[in-house]
Amino acid sequence: MKGIILHGGHGTRLRPLTHTGPKQLLPIANKPMSQYALEDFREAGITDIGIIIGDVYPEKVKEYYGNGENFGVKITYIYQDKPKGISHAIKLCNEFVGNEKFVVYLGDNILRKGLVDYKNNFETSNTDAMILLCKVDDPTRFGIAEINSESNKIKKITEKPSEPQSDLAVIGVYFLTPKIFTIIDKLKPSARGELEITEALQLLMDENNSIKYETVTGWWKDTGTPEDILHANQLVLDSIGKENQFVIDKESKIKDNVVIGKGTELSSDSSVQGPIIIGTNCKVGPNVRLGPNVSVGNNSILTNCTITNSIIMENCQISANVNLSNSIIANGSQIEANNEQSDHELLLGERSQLKI
Ligand code: G1P
Repeated sequence: MKGIILHGGHGTRLRPLTHTGPKQLLPIANKPMSQYALEDFREAGITDIGIIIGDVYPEKVKEYYGNGENFGVKITYIYQDKPKGISHAIKLCNEFVGNEKFVVYLGDNILRKGLVDYKNNFETSNTDAMILLCKVDDPTRFGIAEINSESNKIKKITEKPSEPQSDLAVIGVYFLTPKIFTIIDKLKPSARGELEITEALQLLMDENNSIKYETVTGWWKDTGTPEDILHANQLVLDSIGKENQFVIDKESKIKDNVVIGKGTELSSDSSVQGPIIIGTNCKVGPNVRLGPNVSVGNNSILTNCTITNSIIMENCQISANVNLSNSIIANGSQIEANNEQSDHELLLGERSQLKI
């Protein structure tokens, strides 16, 4: 079975973070979010992977994943010139997929439980498609499935309904067969100008094909907004220290729910409160309070600050008497301040320089 990771899109709701790269490379607990999809595929035995790259710095995706050998998989890149929808992206994979069943994983979705059971279930079934459903608080944001309470079968699938009849979101992991390609040929662009996956699934049902579903156990996160990214970071960090859930660099030190990378120095007057991950070669201190729910990327230097529930990426310098919370600070940013203590929630794009 082949796997496809969607790595395109403009990530407009995540600007300025997405001015300098695709959103799927933004780090969650110090790892690009699309790497969670890739690792889920690998764990499920799916190692022949197509990555759909778009028009936002596609070369950065190729540079990070290469041909896949460093990640134990084989990668084929497929180029989508414009974000014309998930179904459009899938159609571009027709040749790559051939006649096999396949799985599509949106690179901005994180599914904590992984794919192994779902994949085995789909592999042995005769169904034409299988989707995963998850209860959500805000059903107008997602594709939504209505289930017939008597037959327990899917009745209807709608993209972001304004008056949702169900709170079951169709998450961004789709188990498909090549039947979907002829269905996609019949789609017309939606109001947002995209060929929607939900419309393809609905049409598949309308044409009397079978669709199964499973309900997700454990958590699932779509990382469309900065708040979602911070929440995903928190959810992934929550599993730090629990066996087999969080794979980290062998050289890192782990104590309960704190991971500290090789070469990182923590001054004796500083403190960390897990869950937290600090990358390699960082300098933390003097006088720093970190955590809970903080990720700090490699080579960052932090002095005199308090940081909670935030992502500080690589090569950042924060030397300010500040309390940062709910913040995302992208690579190479610098924050300096005067001596007066102040509280901030910041969203800084790459190489920002801030004096407060
Ligand atoms: C897409 C799909 C939607 C699905 C969601 C999951 O939405 O169109 O059906 O529920 O992914 O993340 P989008 O991220 O394009 O708004």
